Amino acid sequence: MRFSPASFDNAFKQEEGEGGSFGRELLAGLKSRPRSISPKFFYDAAGSRLFDAICELPEYYPTRTELSILAERAGEIAQQIGPDAEIIEFGAGSLRKVRLLLDALRKPRRFVPIDISGDHLAQAAHALRTDYPGLDVQPLVADYTRPFSLPPKAEGSGMRVGFFPGSTLGNFSPAEALSFLQSAAAVLRGGGLLLGVDLVKDPARLHAAYNDAQGITARFNLNLLARANAELGADFNLANFAHTAFYNAPHQRIEMHLVSRTAQTVNLLGESLHFAEAETIHTENSHKFTVEGLRTLAARAGFGIGPVWTDPERVFSVHWLPAAQ
Ligand code: AVI
Repeated sequence: MRFSPASFDNAFKQEEGEGGSFGRELLAGLKSRPRSISPKFFYDAAGSRLFDAICELPEYYPTRTELSILAERAGEIAQQIGPDAEIIEFGAGSLRKVRLLLDALRKPRRFVPIDISGDHLAQAAHALRTDYPGLDVQPLVADYTRPFSLPPKAEGSGMRVGFFPGSTLGNFSPAEALSFLQSAAAVLRGGGLLLGVDLVKDPARLHAAYNDAQGITARFNLNLLARANAELGADFNLANFAHTAFYNAPHQRIEMHLVSRTAQTVNLLGESLHFAEAETIHTENSHKFTVEGLRTLAARAGFGIGPVWTDPERVFSVHWLPAAQ
């Protein structure tokens, strides 16, 4: 997973130049029923730019709400963490968000952004080294969705703290979310995880956030097909597919799909794929959580339960989850 240079908010990224894995996974996903593809493939350079535009949309409340919670509660969060902390960010994500944290902490010692894209990490590291001369910035090129280990803590450092904002956890399946949290609890022992997740709410508000009036989310979704054409020589006619996003209440998730507007055949990597009219490709799940549900999941993964901070409308939540020694 990776970030394009343009992208600042999303940690759920995928390495560019991984044409092999994109092609293999896309073909396998389109041959399976129901047809699906992992949302990690949204984030080529164009997709990352579109995601950045989504974060600025009036309907897409998560980014600005999480920023406001972090800005308002930074002092309380810093109290949980204490001095000389080592911050591990999963995904070289939002510099805006981590800066809010770093600015509130007392003498933060080290910052370790983990991302599969070395390029994006280098950019993030450079910006932070310039602005925080006392901070030891140690980027780590790794796929944090797989089990990983961290370098030993620096002598005399305080807590080791994971930072996973943006509700990227919601793009994992429930099993993936549990296994990510289990790995995080293991590497953060004696410290904790600061986790931002979107909350269950009025479906109309969710619907608007994923069906914006300007059609940016539709372009983001359809960009997967444009990417397949550009990188894999596929012949998707984008006009023959429509973006759809709806709330699946039993699963507490927004589902995004691309719907075939007509019966059609698409050629991809030497295979002819037939789509019936109205057949869909499932491109993303974005799970929403209740505070209690998230805490139960975190406890199953081995975390303790700390304070949770929300906005006045309770649309988004930031959780402090201590990891026992
Ligand atoms: C990155 N992720 C948390 C976003 C979400 O809301 O699930 C991706 C996104 N998909 C459509 N709009 C935004």
